Amino acid sequence: MKNIENMPKIELHVHIEGTLEAKTVLAKIEQKQLNFDPMYLEKLSKPPVFTSLSDFLKDYYKNMAVLENQQDFFDLAWNHLKNAKKQNVIYTEIFFDPQPHIKRGIHLDDVIDGLYQALEKAEKELDLKAKLIMCFLKDESVDEALNILDMSKLAIENKKIVGIGFDSNEIENWAAIFKPVVDKARNLGLNVTTHAAENSFEQDPIEVINILNPDRIDHGLYIHKSLEALKLVKEKEIHLSLCPLPNFYSKAWLDPKTFPIQVFLDNDISFSINSDDPAYFGPTTLNDNYLLVNQNNKISEEKWKNLLLKTLNSTFTNTEEKEYLK
Ligand code: ADE
Ligand code: ZN
Repeated sequence: MKNIENMPKIELHVHIEGTLEAKTVLAKIEQKQLNFDPMYLEKLSKPPVFTSLSDFLKDYYKNMAVLENQQDFFDLAWNHLKNAKKQNVIYTEIFFDPQPHIKRGIHLDDVIDGLYQALEKAEKELDLKAKLIMCFLKDESVDEALNILDMSKLAIENKKIVGIGFDSNEIENWAAIFKPVVDKARNLGLNVTTHAAENSFEQDPIEVINILNPDRIDHGLYIHKSLEALKLVKEKEIHLSLCPLPNFYSKAWLDPKTFPIQVFLDNDISFSINSDDPAYFGPTTLNDNYLLVNQNNKISEEKWKNLLLKTLNSTFTNTEEKEYLK
């Protein structure tokens, strides 16, 4: 496949807070006169280097302090959607993490409405459809997650949120702990995706699948290590939203050239290529991830089309929109 950059794409795994560029963080700190350690400001002015996922997450949560109002969330999402359009994204589902914002005293409605207004503008002005997925942090309280679901009922009814996800650091046995959140989300008509098997098996993906029955798994690259897990993913038609370069930059996978795409191709598993936290990992773009995969694996134009169709079927949008996008 030659023209990988111009190929239409669907992105299902991007954290809106992970699109917050260091230059924007620095500008907002200056503009709002926020109190940050000068050493940290110096670190922010250099290309990011992370020793692990949890090392990255520290900066990711710290930088969110510059997002203070609805306009900040709108600007963040609008900037990302314009970039997505440049990568030829035709449809995307975007994660957001309500907990750290609420903890900083931001109203949940300001977060959701700021993001959602950017989505509406993108649909009108860029012909780019986008949906929101609310993520809960695996290393925070389950009651907090349940409360936030209650607080979001109106936004869910108004179809501003189409699913829930789980992200952040894993804690022991997290899937069983968060099962009530999945049950509640399903009752509210939401779809479910979850980060799993990102850094080897913190919690066995088989347990995650059996306990939570997710529609999709985010990352899931280490599923390639277990025939049983691969079989289950295939049987249950679980889509994997892979993120090759982010896994390299978070040190979850050490050689980007050997990223295990071929196993998923051989097992006919539905997967997509995604940018995760493009402002932090590299920074990179969605196209950089596609180019890497295309260079290292023999994927024909027909195969790419087939993967795109399967990805479309794994989206959380309705049948009408799926038909329109075909
Ligand atoms: N939150 C943002 N990016 C994440 C990632 N790659 N893994 C887990 N939690 C995250
Ligand atoms: Zn992610």
